Amino acid sequence: MQETTYKMNTPVAIALLADLHERPAGPVFDSLRTRRPDIICIAGDMFQGSLPDNEDLAAERVVPVLKTCAAIAPTFLSLGNHEWILSPKDMQLLRSTGVHVLDNCWMEWQGIFIGGITSAVVTNYRRYSSVSGEKYPKNPPHIMERAKFPKTWIQDFCNQSGFKILLCHHPEYYPRYLADLPIDLVLSGHAHGGQWRIFNRGVFAPGQGLFPKLTSGVHDRLVISRGLANTAPFPRFFNPTELVYIEPSVT
Ligand SMILES: [Fe+2]
Repeated sequence: MQETTYKMNTPVAIALLADLHERPAGPVFDSLRTRRPDIICIAGDMFQGSLPDNEDLAAERVVPVLKTCAAIAPTFLSLGNHEWILSPKDMQLLRSTGVHVLDNCWMEWQGIFIGGITSAVVTNYRRYSSVSGEKYPKNPPHIMERAKFPKTWIQDFCNQSGFKILLCHHPEYYPRYLADLPIDLVLSGHAHGGQWRIFNRGVFAPGQGLFPKLTSGVHDRLVISRGLANTAPFPRFFNPTELVYIEPSVT
């Protein structure tokens, strides 16, 4: 696992975690305990969205990791595409860990504002299952009708006066929906660095296709983690897993 540090305009030191996909988190905890960030932001895909043994309690697979994060620093979580697997009971269980679950909402924390956009895969699936009554459909949720981007709470979030951090699993949402909004930092993952990196450029990312632009690093006010797991069918190549730290440029 590689640690990457960016100095940016932020009032707090942030650890950005993404795409752990239920893999062991020991090295992540070791790093967090050493670096001691002010807050931990988890930008989705803590889960590997396969059917749980007990369909009501997929969240049990991730609860210990979230509890440990919450014991290290205030922790904020948004939902990635793999979180489609979570039931309402799972959401309650996630909230019981002490982590702030930002499911298309925002909150104030010590004078700053932190929001979380839920992946459209999750919102599509919720809409589909509420209509069909089908708990786990044979068709994966990403082929369902695209959800409309939830603008109402985002506008409310943007109207707050203070530093604003938005957790958004999908980096491809940034140019489509977010670049023009008055948000100070957008934190994402999902692209896994493009899975294979050739000449320091990713080869493929879901939602962006071949030779994607948004797989790693800082792009304007968007910070992208290359992710913490190696779970894809084609293993990473020249692309170590990554834990990102964002620290104030002026102390
Ligand atoms: Fe993802």
